[in-house]
Amino acid sequence: MKPLILLCIVTLSVFSSIVLSDLQISKLDRQIDLTSQIVRSSITLKVINNGDSPAPEVLLPFPNQQAEKLVFLVAGSSEGTGKTKASFTPLSIKNSNLEGSPPALTWYSVLLAKPLRKGDTLDLVVKTSFSHILRPFPEKISQADMQLLAFQDSAYYLSPYPIKVQSLTVKLPESKIESYTNTENTEFSGSDIKYGPYENLPSFSFKPIMVHFMCNRPFAVAEELVREIEVSHWGNVQVTEHYNLIHGGAQITGEFSRLDFQARYRGASAFRRLIAALPLRAHSIYYRDEIGNISTSDLRRDSKKMLMNIEPRYPMFGGWRTSFTIGYGLPLKDFLFQAEGKHFINITFGSPIDDLVIDNLTVKVVLPEGSKDISSLVPFYVNQLEEIKFSHLDMVGRPVVVLEKTNVVPEHNLYFQIYYRFSNLSLLREPLMLISGFFVCFIACIIYTHADLTISKTSSSYLAKLQWDEVQSTIQQIQSIMSRCLIIHDNLEASLRDLFRTGDVQTCKAARKAADGMLKENSKELKPLLLLLESSSQADLILTKVNELVSKERELQEKLMLKHSTVVDSYEKKSGGRDIENRVAAVQQRISALRLEVDDLLDIIDEI
Ligand SMILES: *[C@@H]1O[C@H](CO)[C@@H](O)[C@H](O)[C@H]1NC(C)=O
Ligand SMILES: *[C@@H]1O[C@H](CO)[C@@H](O)[C@H](O)[C@H]1NC(C)=O
Ligand SMILES: *[C@@H]1O[C@H](CO)[C@@H](O)[C@H](O)[C@H]1NC(C)=O
Ligand SMILES: *[C@@H]1O[C@H](CO)[C@@H](O)[C@H](O)[C@H]1NC(C)=O
Repeated sequence: MKPLILLCIVTLSVFSSIVLSDLQISKLDRQIDLTSQIVRSSITLKVINNGDSPAPEVLLPFPNQQAEKLVFLVAGSSEGTGKTKASFTPLSIKNSNLEGSPPALTWYSVLLAKPLRKGDTLDLVVKTSFSHILRPFPEKISQADMQLLAFQDSAYYLSPYPIKVQSLTVKLPESKIESYTNTENTEFSGSDIKYGPYENLPSFSFKPIMVHFMCNRPFAVAEELVREIEVSHWGNVQVTEHYNLIHGGAQITGEFSRLDFQARYRGASAFRRLIAALPLRAHSIYYRDEIGNISTSDLRRDSKKMLMNIEPRYPMFGGWRTSFTIGYGLPLKDFLFQAEGKHFINITFGSPIDDLVIDNLTVKVVLPEGSKDISSLVPFYVNQLEEIKFSHLDMVGRPVVVLEKTNVVPEHNLYFQIYYRFSNLSLLREPLMLISGFFVCFIACIIYTHADLTISKTSSSYLAKLQWDEVQSTIQQIQSIMSRCLIIHDNLEASLRDLFRTGDVQTCKAARKAADGMLKENSKELKPLLLLLESSSQADLILTKVNELVSKERELQEKLMLKHSTVVDSYEKKSGGRDIENRVAAVQQRISALRLEVDDLLDIIDEI
């Protein structure tokens, strides 16, 4: 037991000089819970005033070794007699400097709602939580060992008032115990050790006890945790939590063997997972470490919470560290409210991870840009700062309320509020900036393209394009003239068929005259178009084909006219049908060939 420092044993004589009220405790029950790394005690006591003057306060002394580890203390009066402590009215507590008290004690005083008058009684409940008070003993173990812890206290409650009857129950995580102080009225059963009842003990009675027990519960300690809560009035609260975690239990010595760990699960003292209980409506949940994202498929829901399984990449043994980040979004309307013309955020302070001890916690609440008149309401002491955070599109930055607290335990997971003024117009600033940004960009684009046009009107590529457009429209006109000519050819042929059917020579001659006139007209129209093509540097390729087409069509015209006049003449001379056919056979052959060539050329030009 050498490494264990025994608590100071205070002697009664020291306190003879302290003047205390005539309070007495008629009954006191104390429960100490050692089932997790956070030691919690709950004390119910009945106080009676035996003196003449009313008592305004009840004093609670703690030995300094305990007081240093005391991280949470509440006291309240419990109305309703007996077991029911349904109505717990919290009372304010203040640090108290008692004159003449030895320096080994730290005093707190519970301020009563109304002073306790002579003969009156009061039921009080005092709850305390201690972190880092359990000492691993031995301090170093191997992978295969179980973790043993030592805890020290007094079997008698350290009280400045005499206690009529008192008892203590120490609750252990398991029934396995290495040793415990066995004094009068001690009973060990199941996983509880009971001390007492002890009767009529004077003030400041003290009886050191020590319990040495087995505990393999996770000793997860966040040496540092930074929680960033970013409020966006667009409907989201984004929470990002950066953890620097250590296993605060007995340090592991020797080589770590993963094989051993996996094969026989030798490593009872290690923890492999932590559970974070997030608000039920949390979304976009992620978990990552230095290496990258770790799948968070392991999400479960119970009736109140979204349970997230956080599994580090390796099992955590005593003294081992890990860093990771978890993040999640929350619906704004669950956490943002309004009061007296101000907005306020109402959200919990601590980590969602169960049974976590946090040495240094920083909570940063990032408010929307333009928030003013910022104030906060936290139900315990925190160190407060203000910062500015810049992100995209921010002009003056977002105000950040920074709350710092050391020694945080789950009991601190209370709601706190940040009040601020925020105009809805500020909300529109960013989209307006975006819209005007796009607008400016748009205008710039228009100016740019226009500038490009004016510059390129003199550029050769622009001229070339204009010329090409001109060539194309010319060719289209030529094509349409050519199709008109082909229709005239067809009509000319048709007039010959009509001649044989009706015998009307005059009409047939008139048709030829009309066709001739129209064809001459067309070739007049064609002339300037051909000149245009010839002058264009772009038309070289197509010009030869067009010229070919025009000359073939001209020849076709001539042959058709020749055929027409030959047939009409022969008809007038009453030649027979066969005779006429023979006479025009040669020219007809040429006509057919020319017609095919003209059609081909039209197709070719159409495809260019
Ligand atoms: C916690 O904060 C205190 C002061 O705020 C500092 O002295 C200490 O080094 C910090 N501890 C860790 C683990 O960061
Ligand atoms: C990790 O997950 C977050 C949220 O799902 C995602 O935004 C991020 O891109 C991921 N990072 C990597 C490296 O996969
Ligand atoms: C904050 O929220 C909690 C839980 O919903 C609620 O009990 C508490 O009254 C709220 N506090 C304020 C100031 O609205
Ligand atoms: C500003 O927003 C609040 C709620 O966020 C709303 O009640 C109020 O009517 C809004 N005011 C204006 C001027 O839009």
